[in-house]
Amino acid sequence: MLTLNLADFSLEHFMAYYWQQRPVVIRQGFAHFEDLISPNDLAGLAMEDAVESRLVYKKDEQWQAENGPFESYKRFGKTGWTLIVQAVNHYSPEVAELVKPFDFIPKWRLDDVMISYATPGGGVGPHIDLYDVFICQGSGRRQWRVGDKGDHKQFAAHAALLHTEPFEAIIDTELLPGDILYIPPGFPHDGVTLEESMSYSVGFRAKSGCDMLSGLADYVIDKELGKTLLADPKRLIAHHQGQIDASDFTLIRANLQTLLDNDTLMADFAGSYFSKTKCTLDLQPLDEPLETSDLVDMLQQQPLVRTGGLRCFYVDATVVQGVCYVDGERYEFGPDLQQAVINLCDNDELSEALLHAALENAEFSRQFTEWVNGGFWYFRD
Ligand code: SIN
Ligand code: CO
Repeated sequence: MLTLNLADFSLEHFMAYYWQQRPVVIRQGFAHFEDLISPNDLAGLAMEDAVESRLVYKKDEQWQAENGPFESYKRFGKTGWTLIVQAVNHYSPEVAELVKPFDFIPKWRLDDVMISYATPGGGVGPHIDLYDVFICQGSGRRQWRVGDKGDHKQFAAHAALLHTEPFEAIIDTELLPGDILYIPPGFPHDGVTLEESMSYSVGFRAKSGCDMLSGLADYVIDKELGKTLLADPKRLIAHHQGQIDASDFTLIRANLQTLLDNDTLMADFAGSYFSKTKCTLDLQPLDEPLETSDLVDMLQQQPLVRTGGLRCFYVDATVVQGVCYVDGERYEFGPDLQQAVINLCDNDELSEALLHAALENAEFSRQFTEWVNGGFWYFRD
């Protein structure tokens, strides 16, 4: 079990002073840290179709970026290139463990664990991210420069690489195994590898209003909601044919506002939207599906583990009805199962005690058995 050590400040101080506000180096945040995956296994993952990966390097001083899957790495030498693999927590239970020390931030904010393997001189170049990231140094050493937030010009160094102009560093430091660099969105940064290196980036996504409105539009179309027409009975005689006047504008806005003010609709949207994964899950359905009674017997012997990257949430407005959102879908089990739903979503591992009452409920036990048979939760042995 990885434990996050904050030697210089408390977690409360981190959240109040650094989170979303300023970058910071957490020296030896993970004491005696050892790689959670080998460079070879990482390179193997990037050969798979379902896995999102990228190679970044320079050729004749020009930045290059290629998307995986890759067939071989033979054309690369011992320096100057980086392999980046997204959502490795979906594929490796050991890497998924790296999410746990950051459980002081709720899971709906989590994006994924991206891992980079870089050779000396390798890096992705100076850039700005739109998410909070804890870059945990594994094996090797890397020099990191972080600049202040500001009006930094960005440009495409390659069609797939958005870089930022040179910046003045407010942090310029070498990370050793176990050190962590926290960077909030908007701070330019550049990591150059000094010695063959593994970097584990635990990223937390922050959606924009545009992202969410687009998601809400998809949601209302999909669920056939929001069909109420703009209505204007007793309209006054118009004198300006080209005008959308103030009262008409209020009418338009009110129609849309009705959707936003609908707590159940918005809770269902938020739960479904934030429980969708960006990268596909690596689900391993059981070859021989279990009956609920077998599952309950097995659960008495050992806990079930949530598959890496699976997102399950509840929202206060609907959890009273026993509603949860799992992998983008809404499930309703009734008010008696409120606590079970909370246990299901709050815990990475589920013991029999956490689900006991719920497993006596026909609908819950049917759905839960389907989830386990589908690989959403699994027994380690
Ligand atoms: C990397 O690990 O190579 C890049 C991480 C980052 O700068 O966001
Ligand atoms: Co970055």
